[in-house]
Amino acid sequence: MAKFQYPPVDRAAVHRAAEVLRAGGLVAIPTETVYGLAADADNEKAVLATFAVKGRPTNHPLIVHVAGPEALSAWARVVSPEAKLLAEKFWPGPLTMVLPKSDRCQGFVTGGQDSVAIRCPSHPWMRELLKEFAGDDHHAVTAPSCNTFGRISPTSAQHVADDLGVKPQGKLDMILDGGVCEVGVESTIINLSGERPEILRHGAVTREMLEAALGVPVPDAGSDAPRASGRLKSHYAPKTKVKLLAPDALRTALSDRSVKAAILVSEATKTMLTADGLLPATGVLTAPESEAAYAHALYENLHRLDAFGADVILIECPPTTPDWAAVNDRLGRAAAEKDKA
Ligand code: TXA
Ligand code: MG
Repeated sequence: MAKFQYPPVDRAAVHRAAEVLRAGGLVAIPTETVYGLAADADNEKAVLATFAVKGRPTNHPLIVHVAGPEALSAWARVVSPEAKLLAEKFWPGPLTMVLPKSDRCQGFVTGGQDSVAIRCPSHPWMRELLKEFAGDDHHAVTAPSCNTFGRISPTSAQHVADDLGVKPQGKLDMILDGGVCEVGVESTIINLSGERPEILRHGAVTREMLEAALGVPVPDAGSDAPRASGRLKSHYAPKTKVKLLAPDALRTALSDRSVKAAILVSEATKTMLTADGLLPATGVLTAPESEAAYAHALYENLHRLDAFGADVILIECPPTTPDWAAVNDRLGRAAAEKDKA
């Protein structure tokens, strides 16, 4: 991917966003992963409103977004050496750490759990916003992904406008448009509140990176892991049914002309389908080759595939090497049967 650049920070807009948050409002904020639905983490009414706007159950815990590692001890009761080390190494950036919560951190943020998820995003607009909002007292914002519960996460201000929108027609007080998100999939979540570190959600900070930093294995969490809505089987789902297929199965599926399919395939598979006369006339997207580019474009591509209004979305399985874990995780959930969620 060419070197990624965000638009220059609009300080006036960032300042307005901070004011709206201080007044208890809801702001769609840009982060390097996906857009978030921000509320003042100390304001119960504002935080509870985010659940209502998303249609998300209130026992699902939220991530507290902080200006920097200095805020850790305000929101976490115990900041272990591992937490300090990971913050030093990966913050600001797409890593969320689950730690024992402090007294300040209220149950309406954590879904009643005794732990809290904390992250420090790297998006320049969000850094500016958090710096202004934090003040002397480590103020922070809760921010779930800014989408209706169970739907595809937004990676542009347009996605947010199309889904939740701004009042009076929509549900938000403001959308802070900081451009398209660089990473494109949600942050990695590591649980540091148990006996040993474990991964709750895969993201751009990979298992290999975490293991190299900590010097111990960091397995996936078992099924007794703390609640995480991103762990529901059917999540990040387009409205159209999604199937993940290897090239041969794709060819077979496309042979049935009675089914209108939208497809996301590699350049090589596109060439093969063209040669076989099976490439649909519309609804074809080309999958980026590198993992980073694929992740960056993933939700935009799912939004676009959904918009074709096809009977089914067929996606060619991407590689399964460890660095593709986050992409394969999201694709698997997008393809999961809704009734098994
Ligand atoms: O990249 C991201 O993390 C984005 C951007 C906006 O920062 N946010 C995001 O938030 O993905 P959300 O709410 O869609 O996902 C947060 C995940 C959920 O699966 C939630 O259950 C989990 O974090 N989580 C939050 N607090 C937790 C806790 N105390 N223990 C375990 N999981 C927790
Ligand atoms: Mg989400």
